[in-house]
Amino acid sequence: MNKSYYLETYGCQMNVADSELIEKLLHSEGYKQTDQMEKADAIFVNTCAIRDHAEQKVHSRLGLFNRVKRENPGVIIGVLGCMAQNLKDDILTNKPYVDIILGPDGYRRLPEYLKRNNKKKHIVDTKLSRYEVYDDLFPSRKEGINAWVSIMRGCDKFCTFCIVPFTRGRERSRSIDSIIAEVSQAVSDGFVEITLLGQNVNSYQFNSIGFTQLLEAVSEVKGVQRIRYTSPHPQDVTEELLDIMASRNNICNSIHFPLQSGSDRILKRMNRTYTQNHFLAQVTMMRDKIPHIGISTDIIVGFPGETETDFQETLNVMNEVQFNSAFTFKYSGRPFTKAVEYPDHISENVKQERLERLIQLQKQHTLNKNSDLIGTAQPVLIEKESKKSSSHWAGRTDTNKWVTFKKESTKIKQTVDVDILKTSGISLHGEIS
Ligand code: SAH
Ligand code: SF4
Ligand code: F3S
Repeated sequence: MNKSYYLETYGCQMNVADSELIEKLLHSEGYKQTDQMEKADAIFVNTCAIRDHAEQKVHSRLGLFNRVKRENPGVIIGVLGCMAQNLKDDILTNKPYVDIILGPDGYRRLPEYLKRNNKKKHIVDTKLSRYEVYDDLFPSRKEGINAWVSIMRGCDKFCTFCIVPFTRGRERSRSIDSIIAEVSQAVSDGFVEITLLGQNVNSYQFNSIGFTQLLEAVSEVKGVQRIRYTSPHPQDVTEELLDIMASRNNICNSIHFPLQSGSDRILKRMNRTYTQNHFLAQVTMMRDKIPHIGISTDIIVGFPGETETDFQETLNVMNEVQFNSAFTFKYSGRPFTKAVEYPDHISENVKQERLERLIQLQKQHTLNKNSDLIGTAQPVLIEKESKKSSSHWAGRTDTNKWVTFKKESTKIKQTVDVDILKTSGISLHGEIS
Protein backbone atom coordinates (compact mmCIF):
# COMPACT_ATOMS: atom_id res chain seq x y z
CA MET A 1 0.00 0.00 0.00
CA ASN A 2 1.48 3.31 -1.06
CA LYS A 3 -0.89 6.09 -0.09
CA SER A 4 -0.17 9.77 -0.23
CA TYR A 5 -1.47 12.84 1.57
CA TYR A 6 -1.52 16.53 0.81
CA LEU A 7 -1.61 18.90 3.81
CA GLU A 8 -2.07 22.67 4.07
CA THR A 9 -1.63 24.53 7.33
CA TYR A 10 -3.12 27.89 8.36
CA GLY A 11 -2.86 29.84 11.60
CA CYS A 12 -0.24 30.17 14.30
CA GLN A 13 2.94 28.22 15.06
CA MET A 14 0.92 25.88 17.28
CA ASN A 15 -0.85 24.75 14.15
CA VAL A 16 2.44 24.35 12.32
CA ALA A 17 3.67 22.17 15.20
CA ASP A 18 0.40 20.22 15.22
CA SER A 19 0.75 19.58 11.50
CA GLU A 20 4.15 18.03 12.20
CA LEU A 21 2.46 15.71 14.71
CA ILE A 22 -0.24 14.84 12.20
CA GLU A 23 2.43 14.07 9.60
CA LYS A 24 4.15 11.76 12.03
CA LEU A 25 0.90 9.86 12.52
CA LEU A 26 0.31 9.69 8.77
CA HIS A 27 3.83 8.43 8.09
CA SER A 28 3.40 5.64 10.60
CA GLU A 29 0.29 4.57 8.67
CA GLY A 30 2.36 4.33 5.49
CA TYR A 31 1.19 7.60 3.96
CA LYS A 32 3.74 9.68 2.05
CA GLN A 33 3.59 13.43 1.64
CA THR A 34 2.87 14.90 -1.80
CA ASP A 35 2.74 18.46 -3.12
CA GLN A 36 0.23 17.53 -5.80
CA MET A 37 -3.25 17.56 -4.35
CA GLU A 38 -4.75 16.16 -7.57
CA LYS A 39 -2.84 12.92 -7.02
CA ALA A 40 -3.28 12.58 -3.25
CA ASP A 41 -5.34 9.86 -1.59
CA ALA A 42 -6.16 12.24 1.25
CA ILE A 43 -6.28 16.05 1.39
CA PHE A 44 -6.09 17.70 4.79
CA VAL A 45 -6.36 21.30 5.82
CA ASN A 46 -5.28 22.32 9.32
CA THR A 47 -7.44 25.37 9.98
CA CYS A 48 -7.43 28.58 12.00
CA ALA A 49 -10.47 30.40 13.37
CA ILE A 50 -8.83 33.41 15.00
CA ARG A 51 -10.38 36.00 12.64
CA ASP A 52 -13.08 35.80 10.00
CA HIS A 53 -10.49 36.35 7.30
CA ALA A 54 -8.65 33.15 8.29
CA GLU A 55 -11.88 31.18 8.00
CA GLN A 56 -12.76 32.67 4.61
CA LYS A 57 -9.41 31.59 3.28
CA VAL A 58 -10.10 27.99 4.32
CA HIS A 59 -13.58 28.10 2.76
CA SER A 60 -12.08 29.11 -0.54
CA ARG A 61 -9.52 26.29 -0.34
CA LEU A 62 -12.33 23.83 0.43
CA GLY A 63 -14.07 24.97 -2.75
CA LEU A 64 -10.94 23.96 -4.65
CA PHE A 65 -10.65 20.60 -2.85
CA ASN A 66 -14.27 19.93 -3.80
CA ARG A 67 -13.42 20.41 -7.48
CA VAL A 68 -10.48 18.02 -7.09
CA LYS A 69 -12.83 15.49 -5.53
CA ARG A 70 -15.20 15.70 -8.47
CA GLU A 71 -12.35 14.52 -10.66
CA ASN A 72 -11.17 11.98 -8.13
CA PRO A 73 -14.16 10.83 -6.04
CA GLY A 74 -12.06 8.43 -3.95
CA VAL A 75 -10.03 11.16 -2.26
CA ILE A 76 -10.60 11.68 1.47
CA ILE A 77 -11.01 15.32 2.54
CA GLY A 78 -10.27 16.17 6.16
CA VAL A 79 -10.81 19.48 7.97
CA LEU A 80 -8.57 19.56 11.03
CA GLY A 81 -7.76 22.06 13.75
CA CYS A 82 -9.38 25.16 15.13
CA MET A 83 -12.26 25.58 12.67
CA ALA A 84 -13.49 22.03 13.20
CA GLN A 85 -15.18 22.95 16.44
CA ASN A 86 -17.18 25.96 15.38
CA LEU A 87 -17.89 24.92 11.82
CA LYS A 88 -18.93 21.34 12.14
CA ASP A 89 -22.63 22.12 11.59
CA ASP A 90 -21.93 24.33 8.60
CA ILE A 91 -19.64 21.72 7.09
CA LEU A 92 -22.11 18.92 7.66
CA THR A 93 -24.96 20.80 5.97
CA ASN A 94 -23.14 22.74 3.28
CA LYS A 95 -20.01 20.78 2.48
CA PRO A 96 -20.97 17.14 2.05
CA TYR A 97 -17.67 16.42 0.31
CA VAL A 98 -15.78 16.79 3.61
CA ASP A 99 -15.24 13.27 5.02
CA ILE A 100 -13.50 13.92 8.31
CA ILE A 101 -13.83 16.83 10.75
CA LEU A 102 -11.28 16.54 13.53
CA GLY A 103 -10.52 19.02 16.32
CA PRO A 104 -7.05 19.72 17.79
CA ASP A 105 -7.33 17.13 20.58
CA GLY A 106 -8.33 14.24 18.34
CA TYR A 107 -5.29 13.71 16.11
CA ARG A 108 -4.37 10.38 17.69
CA ARG A 109 -7.60 9.00 16.28
CA LEU A 110 -6.86 10.09 12.71
CA PRO A 111 -5.32 6.73 11.62
CA GLU A 112 -8.37 4.89 12.94
CA TYR A 113 -10.71 7.25 11.08
CA LEU A 114 -8.77 6.86 7.86
CA LYS A 115 -9.19 3.10 8.08
CA ARG A 116 -12.83 3.31 9.09
CA ASN A 117 -13.65 5.89 6.43
CA ASN A 118 -17.10 5.05 5.17
CA LYS A 119 -18.00 7.09 2.14
CA LYS A 120 -21.63 7.52 3.13
CA LYS A 121 -20.99 8.83 6.61
CA HIS A 122 -19.01 11.78 7.85
CA ILE A 123 -16.69 11.38 10.77
CA VAL A 124 -16.99 14.24 13.22
CA ASP A 125 -14.75 14.36 16.27
CA THR A 126 -14.42 17.72 17.91
CA LYS A 127 -14.13 16.48 21.49
CA LEU A 128 -11.76 18.59 23.55
CA SER A 129 -9.66 16.91 26.19
CA ARG A 130 -8.45 18.08 29.58
CA TYR A 131 -5.39 15.88 29.30
CA GLU A 132 -4.20 15.40 25.72
CA VAL A 133 -0.69 16.85 25.28
CA TYR A 134 0.63 14.29 22.75
CA ASP A 135 3.41 13.66 25.24
CA ASP A 136 4.77 10.52 23.60
CA LEU A 137 4.35 11.61 19.98
CA PHE A 138 7.34 13.38 18.55
CA PRO A 139 6.66 15.43 15.43
CA SER A 140 7.97 14.72 11.97
CA ARG A 141 10.05 17.80 11.14
CA LYS A 142 11.38 18.99 7.83
CA GLU A 143 15.09 19.74 7.85
CA GLY A 144 15.95 23.19 9.12
CA ILE A 145 17.31 25.40 11.85
CA ASN A 146 14.36 25.79 14.17
CA ALA A 147 12.33 23.09 15.89
CA TRP A 148 8.91 24.01 17.30
CA VAL A 149 8.27 22.25 20.59
CA SER A 150 4.77 22.44 22.10
CA ILE A 151 4.94 22.60 25.86
CA MET A 152 1.34 23.31 26.77
CA ARG A 153 -2.03 23.36 25.03
CA GLY A 154 -5.26 25.29 25.42
CA CYS A 155 -5.96 28.52 27.23
CA ASP A 156 -7.91 29.51 30.35
CA LYS A 157 -7.51 33.26 30.03
CA PHE A 158 -10.74 33.93 28.12
CA CYS A 159 -9.85 37.30 26.66
CA THR A 160 -13.28 38.45 25.51
CA PHE A 161 -12.30 38.78 21.83
CA CYS A 162 -10.63 35.39 21.50
CA ILE A 163 -11.94 32.09 20.21
CA VAL A 164 -8.91 30.00 21.26
CA PRO A 165 -10.30 28.82 24.64
CA PHE A 166 -13.26 27.43 22.68
CA THR A 167 -11.34 25.85 19.84
CA ARG A 168 -8.49 24.44 21.89
CA GLY A 169 -10.05 23.95 25.29
CA ARG A 170 -8.55 24.01 28.75
CA GLU A 171 -4.97 24.75 29.61
CA ARG A 172 -2.72 21.73 30.26
CA SER A 173 1.04 21.25 30.30
CA ARG A 174 3.31 18.52 29.10
CA SER A 175 5.78 16.74 31.38
CA ILE A 176 9.22 18.30 31.60
CA ASP A 177 10.81 14.90 30.90
CA SER A 178 9.10 14.50 27.56
CA ILE A 179 9.88 18.11 26.59
CA ILE A 180 13.57 17.64 27.36
CA ALA A 181 13.59 14.31 25.52
CA GLU A 182 12.04 15.96 22.47
CA VAL A 183 14.52 18.87 22.60
CA SER A 184 17.45 16.42 22.81
CA GLN A 185 16.04 14.46 19.89
CA ALA A 186 15.66 17.67 17.85
CA VAL A 187 19.29 18.57 18.56
CA SER A 188 20.52 15.16 17.49
CA ASP A 189 18.41 15.53 14.33
CA GLY A 190 20.42 18.68 13.56
CA PHE A 191 18.21 21.50 14.86
CA VAL A 192 20.05 24.28 16.69
CA GLU A 193 17.20 26.62 17.61
CA ILE A 194 14.28 25.58 19.81
CA THR A 195 11.05 27.58 20.01
CA LEU A 196 8.84 26.58 22.92
CA LEU A 197 5.19 26.96 22.03
CA GLY A 198 1.95 27.45 23.87
CA GLN A 199 -1.09 29.69 23.61
CA ASN A 200 -0.01 30.91 26.99
CA VAL A 201 3.48 29.61 27.08
CA ASN A 202 4.48 31.15 30.41
CA SER A 203 1.49 29.66 32.24
CA TYR A 204 3.34 26.35 31.87
CA GLN A 205 2.95 24.34 35.06
CA PHE A 206 3.76 20.67 35.43
CA ASN A 207 3.60 19.47 39.04
CA SER A 208 5.90 21.94 40.78
CA ILE A 209 7.78 22.99 37.64
CA GLY A 210 6.92 26.39 36.20
CA PHE A 211 7.97 28.05 32.96
CA THR A 212 11.16 29.59 34.34
CA GLN A 213 12.51 26.23 35.54
CA LEU A 214 11.57 24.63 32.26
CA LEU A 215 13.41 27.32 30.30
CA GLU A 216 16.44 26.83 32.49
CA ALA A 217 16.38 23.08 31.89
CA VAL A 218 16.04 23.49 28.11
CA SER A 219 18.95 25.93 28.07
CA GLU A 220 21.12 23.21 29.61
CA VAL A 221 20.52 20.72 26.81
CA LYS A 222 23.81 20.38 24.95
CA GLY A 223 23.81 21.72 21.42
CA VAL A 224 20.88 24.13 21.81
CA GLN A 225 22.29 27.35 20.38
CA ARG A 226 19.14 29.42 20.67
CA ILE A 227 15.87 29.28 22.57
CA ARG A 228 12.81 31.35 21.82
CA TYR A 229 9.26 31.04 23.14
CA THR A 230 5.86 32.31 22.15
CA SER A 231 3.35 33.61 23.18
CA PRO A 232 3.62 34.76 26.76
CA HIS A 233 0.84 36.64 28.54
CA PRO A 234 1.99 39.92 30.13
CA GLN A 235 0.37 38.95 33.42
CA ASP A 236 2.74 36.00 33.83
CA VAL A 237 6.06 37.63 32.89
CA THR A 238 8.02 37.57 36.15
CA GLU A 239 11.30 38.92 37.39
CA GLU A 240 12.64 35.35 37.76
CA LEU A 241 11.87 34.66 34.11
CA LEU A 242 13.78 37.75 32.98
CA ASP A 243 16.69 36.86 35.28
CA ILE A 244 16.99 33.45 33.63
CA MET A 245 16.81 35.04 30.20
CA ALA A 246 19.52 37.51 31.16
CA SER A 247 21.79 34.87 32.64
CA ARG A 248 21.71 32.30 29.81
CA ASN A 249 23.53 32.99 26.58
CA ASN A 250 21.41 30.66 24.54
CA ILE A 251 18.05 32.20 25.53
CA CYS A 252 17.37 34.91 22.95
CA ASN A 253 17.10 38.50 24.08
CA SER A 254 13.70 38.93 22.59
CA ILE A 255 10.16 38.67 23.81
CA HIS A 256 6.75 38.77 22.22
CA PHE A 257 4.70 40.93 24.55
CA PRO A 258 1.11 41.32 23.32
CA LEU A 259 -0.37 44.70 24.27
CA GLN A 260 -3.75 44.34 22.44
CA SER A 261 -4.80 47.85 23.55
CA GLY A 262 -3.28 50.76 25.47
CA SER A 263 -6.56 51.92 27.01
CA ASP A 264 -7.38 50.72 30.52
CA ARG A 265 -11.08 50.81 29.76
CA ILE A 266 -10.66 48.59 26.69
CA LEU A 267 -8.16 46.28 28.41
CA LYS A 268 -10.72 45.72 31.12
CA ARG A 269 -13.43 44.97 28.56
CA MET A 270 -11.00 42.61 26.87
CA ASN A 271 -10.40 40.83 30.20
CA ARG A 272 -6.64 41.25 29.71
CA THR A 273 -6.02 41.52 33.50
CA TYR A 274 -3.34 44.26 33.26
CA THR A 275 -3.46 48.02 32.96
CA GLN A 276 -1.43 50.39 30.80
CA ASN A 277 0.75 51.24 33.82
CA HIS A 278 1.38 47.62 34.65
CA PHE A 279 2.33 46.87 31.04
CA LEU A 280 4.72 49.83 30.92
CA ALA A 281 6.25 48.83 34.26
CA GLN A 282 6.85 45.34 32.85
CA VAL A 283 8.61 46.84 29.83
CA THR A 284 10.81 48.95 32.11
CA MET A 285 11.69 45.87 34.13
CA MET A 286 12.58 43.98 30.93
CA ARG A 287 14.85 46.75 29.73
CA ASP A 288 16.48 47.11 33.15
CA LYS A 289 17.33 43.43 33.21
CA ILE A 290 18.12 42.97 29.50
CA PRO A 291 19.03 46.39 28.06
CA HIS A 292 18.87 45.50 24.36
CA ILE A 293 15.90 43.19 24.52
CA GLY A 294 13.81 43.12 21.33
CA ILE A 295 10.11 43.51 22.05
CA SER A 296 7.40 42.62 19.57
CA THR A 297 3.68 42.85 20.13
CA ASP A 298 0.11 42.19 18.93
CA ILE A 299 -2.41 45.02 18.78
CA ILE A 300 -6.12 44.96 17.96
CA VAL A 301 -7.91 48.09 16.70
CA GLY A 302 -11.64 48.67 16.69
CA PHE A 303 -12.54 46.49 19.65
CA PRO A 304 -16.23 47.12 20.51
CA GLY A 305 -16.63 50.51 22.18
CA GLU A 306 -13.12 51.75 21.29
CA THR A 307 -13.28 55.56 21.06
CA GLU A 308 -10.74 57.83 19.39
CA THR A 309 -9.42 58.60 22.90
CA ASP A 310 -8.96 54.88 23.64
CA PHE A 311 -7.16 54.47 20.33
CA GLN A 312 -4.89 57.43 21.17
CA GLU A 313 -3.93 55.59 24.36
CA THR A 314 -2.74 52.68 22.23
CA LEU A 315 -0.65 55.04 20.10
CA ASN A 316 0.73 56.61 23.31
CA VAL A 317 1.88 53.24 24.62
CA MET A 318 3.46 52.45 21.25
CA ASN A 319 5.32 55.75 21.32
CA GLU A 320 6.48 55.12 24.84
CA VAL A 321 7.61 51.53 24.30
CA GLN A 322 8.84 51.73 20.67
CA PHE A 323 8.22 48.08 19.84
CA ASN A 324 10.66 46.45 17.42
CA SER A 325 7.74 45.05 15.47
CA ALA A 326 3.99 44.61 15.79
CA PHE A 327 1.33 42.33 14.39
CA THR A 328 -1.71 44.54 13.98
CA PHE A 329 -5.29 43.37 13.53
CA LYS A 330 -8.76 44.75 13.01
CA TYR A 331 -11.11 43.34 15.61
CA SER A 332 -13.13 40.49 14.17
CA GLY A 333 -16.24 39.26 16.04
CA ARG A 334 -15.92 35.57 16.87
CA PRO A 335 -18.60 33.04 17.78
CA PHE A 336 -18.85 31.94 21.45
CA THR A 337 -16.85 34.96 22.68
CA LYS A 338 -18.18 37.59 25.04
CA ALA A 339 -17.13 40.61 22.98
CA VAL A 340 -19.19 39.62 19.97
CA GLU A 341 -22.27 40.19 22.17
CA TYR A 342 -21.25 43.75 23.08
CA PRO A 343 -23.70 46.27 21.61
CA ASP A 344 -21.19 48.90 20.43
CA HIS A 345 -19.29 47.45 17.48
CA ILE A 346 -17.10 49.77 15.44
CA SER A 347 -17.64 50.40 11.74
CA GLU A 348 -15.33 48.82 9.18
CA ASN A 349 -14.27 52.29 7.96
CA VAL A 350 -13.13 53.41 11.39
CA LYS A 351 -11.30 50.11 11.98
CA GLN A 352 -9.53 50.44 8.64
CA GLU A 353 -8.55 54.05 9.26
CA ARG A 354 -7.17 53.24 12.74
CA LEU A 355 -5.31 50.23 11.43
CA GLU A 356 -3.58 52.34 8.80
CA ARG A 357 -2.51 54.94 11.37
CA LEU A 358 -1.18 52.20 13.61
CA ILE A 359 0.78 50.54 10.82
CA GLN A 360 2.27 53.88 9.81
CA LEU A 361 3.47 54.58 13.35
CA GLN A 362 4.88 51.09 13.82
CA LYS A 363 6.76 51.35 10.56
CA GLN A 364 8.61 54.41 11.86
CA HIS A 365 9.43 52.64 15.11
CA THR A 366 10.68 49.54 13.31
CA LEU A 367 12.92 51.62 11.07
CA ASN A 368 14.23 53.63 14.04
CA LYS A 369 14.94 50.48 16.01
CA ASN A 370 16.77 48.99 13.04
CA SER A 371 18.90 52.09 12.50
CA ASP A 372 19.85 51.99 16.19
CA LEU A 373 21.72 48.78 15.37
CA ILE A 374 24.03 50.43 12.82
CA GLY A 375 27.54 50.46 14.25
CA THR A 376 26.88 47.59 16.68
CA ALA A 377 28.03 43.98 16.46
CA GLN A 378 25.22 41.41 16.66
CA PRO A 379 25.39 37.65 17.12
CA VAL A 380 23.77 36.15 14.03
CA LEU A 381 22.81 32.52 13.50
CA ILE A 382 23.38 31.66 9.84
CA GLU A 383 20.19 30.15 8.43
CA LYS A 384 20.31 30.19 4.62
CA GLU A 385 21.72 31.74 1.50
CA SER A 386 20.56 35.28 0.81
CA LYS A 387 17.84 35.43 -1.88
CA LYS A 388 19.67 38.27 -3.59
CA SER A 389 23.21 36.89 -3.76
CA SER A 390 24.78 33.46 -3.65
CA SER A 391 27.91 34.90 -2.03
CA HIS A 392 25.90 36.14 1.00
CA TRP A 393 24.25 34.46 3.96
CA ALA A 394 20.99 35.45 5.66
CA GLY A 395 20.60 34.92 9.37
CA ARG A 396 18.78 36.37 12.36
CA THR A 397 20.04 38.40 15.29
CA ASP A 398 18.94 37.14 18.67
CA THR A 399 16.37 39.94 18.65
CA ASN A 400 14.91 38.32 15.55
CA LYS A 401 16.09 40.66 12.76
CA TRP A 402 17.22 39.33 9.39
CA VAL A 403 20.76 40.32 8.41
CA THR A 404 22.66 39.59 5.18
CA PHE A 405 26.46 39.49 4.95
CA LYS A 406 29.30 38.01 2.89
CA LYS A 407 29.80 34.29 3.51
CA GLU A 408 33.59 34.32 3.93
CA SER A 409 34.45 30.87 5.27
CA THR A 410 31.45 30.34 7.53
CA LYS A 411 28.66 27.79 7.27
CA ILE A 412 24.96 27.34 7.98
CA LYS A 413 24.05 26.84 11.68
CA GLN A 414 27.14 28.72 12.84
CA THR A 415 26.64 31.79 15.06
CA VAL A 416 28.91 34.69 14.07
CA ASP A 417 29.29 38.29 15.20
CA VAL A 418 28.23 40.64 12.45
CA ASP A 419 28.94 44.39 12.36
CA ILE A 420 25.75 46.07 11.18
CA LEU A 421 26.62 48.58 8.46
CA LYS A 422 23.32 49.69 6.96
CA THR A 423 19.60 49.06 6.74
CA SER A 424 17.34 48.91 3.74
CA GLY A 425 13.62 48.77 4.45
CA ILE A 426 13.27 46.27 7.26
CA SER A 427 16.41 44.28 6.53
CA LEU A 428 19.93 44.78 7.82
CA HIS A 429 23.27 44.37 6.07
CA GLY A 430 26.66 43.89 7.63
CA GLU A 431 29.98 42.12 7.61
CA ILE A 432 31.50 39.47 9.84
CA SER A 433 33.40 41.18 12.68
N1 SAH B 1 -2.18 33.39 22.94
C1 SAH B 1 -1.70 34.49 22.26
C2 SAH B 1 -2.54 34.97 21.12
C3 SAH B 1 -3.02 34.06 20.10
S1 SAH B 1 -3.95 34.82 18.90
C4 SAH B 1 -1.63 35.62 23.21
O1 SAH B 1 -2.33 35.69 24.18
O2 SAH B 1 -0.88 36.52 22.89
C5 SAH B 1 -2.81 35.95 18.18
C6 SAH B 1 -3.32 37.35 18.15
O3 SAH B 1 -4.47 37.45 17.35
C7 SAH B 1 -3.75 37.91 19.49
O4 SAH B 1 -2.69 38.35 20.25
C8 SAH B 1 -4.65 39.04 19.07
O5 SAH B 1 -3.92 40.24 18.88
C9 SAH B 1 -5.19 38.59 17.74
N2 SAH B 1 -6.62 38.24 17.85
C10 SAH B 1 -7.17 37.27 18.61
N3 SAH B 1 -8.51 37.28 18.47
C11 SAH B 1 -8.82 38.28 17.61
C12 SAH B 1 -10.04 38.81 17.09
N4 SAH B 1 -11.21 38.31 17.44
N5 SAH B 1 -9.95 39.85 16.23
C13 SAH B 1 -8.76 40.37 15.88
N6 SAH B 1 -7.60 39.93 16.35
C14 SAH B 1 -7.60 38.89 17.21
FE1 SF4 C 1 -6.67 34.13 23.30
FE2 SF4 C 1 -6.21 35.60 25.44
FE3 SF4 C 1 -5.79 32.98 25.53
FE4 SF4 C 1 -4.17 34.51 24.08
S1 SF4 C 1 -4.43 34.60 26.32
S2 SF4 C 1 -5.08 32.59 23.45
S3 SF4 C 1 -5.55 36.09 23.33
S4 SF4 C 1 -7.76 33.98 25.29
FE1 F3S D 1 -5.65 30.09 14.80
FE2 F3S D 1 -6.03 28.09 16.37
FE3 F3S D 1 -3.69 29.25 16.30
S1 F3S D 1 -7.45 29.69 15.99
S2 F3S D 1 -4.17 31.34 15.81
S3 F3S D 1 -4.63 28.17 14.66
S4 F3S D 1 -4.68 28.37 18.07
